[in-house]
Amino acid sequence: MLYRIMRSFLFKMNPEKAHDLSIKQLKLTHGTVLDLFYRQKVQQRPVQVMGLTFPNSLGLAAGLDKNAECIDAFGAMGFGHIEVGTVTPVGQPGNPSPRLFRVLEGEGIINRMGFNNDGVDNLIENVKSSNFKGVIGINIGKNINTPVEQGKEDYIICMEKVYPHAGYIAVNISSPNTPGLRSLQYGEALDDLLSSLKERQQALAKKHEKYVPIALKVAPDLSDEEIESIAQSLLKYKIDGLIATNTTLDREIIKGMSHASEAGGLSGRPVQSKSTAVIAKFSEHLKGEIPIIGVGGIDSVIAAKEKIAAGASLVQIYSGFIYQGPPLVKNIVNHI
Ligand SMILES: Cc1cc2nc3c(=O)[nH]c(=O)nc-3n(C[C@H](O)[C@H](O)[C@H](O)COP(=O)(O)O)c2cc1C
Repeated sequence: MLYRIMRSFLFKMNPEKAHDLSIKQLKLTHGTVLDLFYRQKVQQRPVQVMGLTFPNSLGLAAGLDKNAECIDAFGAMGFGHIEVGTVTPVGQPGNPSPRLFRVLEGEGIINRMGFNNDGVDNLIENVKSSNFKGVIGINIGKNINTPVEQGKEDYIICMEKVYPHAGYIAVNISSPNTPGLRSLQYGEALDDLLSSLKERQQALAKKHEKYVPIALKVAPDLSDEEIESIAQSLLKYKIDGLIATNTTLDREIIKGMSHASEAGGLSGRPVQSKSTAVIAKFSEHLKGEIPIIGVGGIDSVIAAKEKIAAGASLVQIYSGFIYQGPPLVKNIVNHI
């Protein structure tokens, strides 16, 4: 009820302004009496995934708290893990506005933010000051000005820096808004990236006496052959987890709806079945050897359960949270 009132106010605003205002308010109110508007008790339902203990199976997907400014506030809502970022070695403004659109009729979102963030050093300071008791995932990417052939260097720079502060590291090679990024999902480019990351992870584990799992985040726009090939690479390099999926470039399902022709990645209910199908396909190939974090269009307990039935060990939400707010978090945590 409360979120419905807030949403009617926020949805009258430009989507990016509404987002910035919400982040600002969460930052300001957390730890004050005003956090009673979103603080909620959820059941403890611990799960072990990637060698880590998560207080429950639900996480906040990457991109909402890009600079890790509100970890404790999202923690107070009941999320078991919070994936912050995508963060790049150097801060960057992202694409020109407008770059965020609500597809109201389909409960979807189109974004072409382009990794707007304040850089990895700033994110680490914010992570260090958090008191969150769940798991913090740090999602890393490459700067737009780094040629894709040298993209690996950006991932390594970020990995070195975030390693001691992360519960797990998410490697995002699936944003459609950084030109060429998705090419890292295929063939030799993927193998080269994964082998370098694995090598660096082993060195960092020794140095910090702590093993931090790496999870690869993939797009939903993959053919069956591409899924099989990525799965083989994940198994070959013993990557710790898979996050499926990011946003889609496909517009078929929202034809005729508002903003349908805007460029960018589509998320929310319109990507739900597509991402579930991708999870199911990966699950066939990974055979339980590598856990899957399922994300894409989860807007209910049933949608979350469908991701788990398809093979996910954990689930995440972004767009569903924008449409439904903290009640969705409580509902999912308490019923899956
Ligand atoms: C506005 C917006 C920004 C996003 N930014 C990122 C990002 O920086 N890194 C990333 O890995 N995913 C990003 N995503 C993708 C989400 O993490 C998620 O994979 C996708 O939206 C599907 O989940 P959903 O349908 O629950 O939103 C973004 C999504 C949205 C809507």
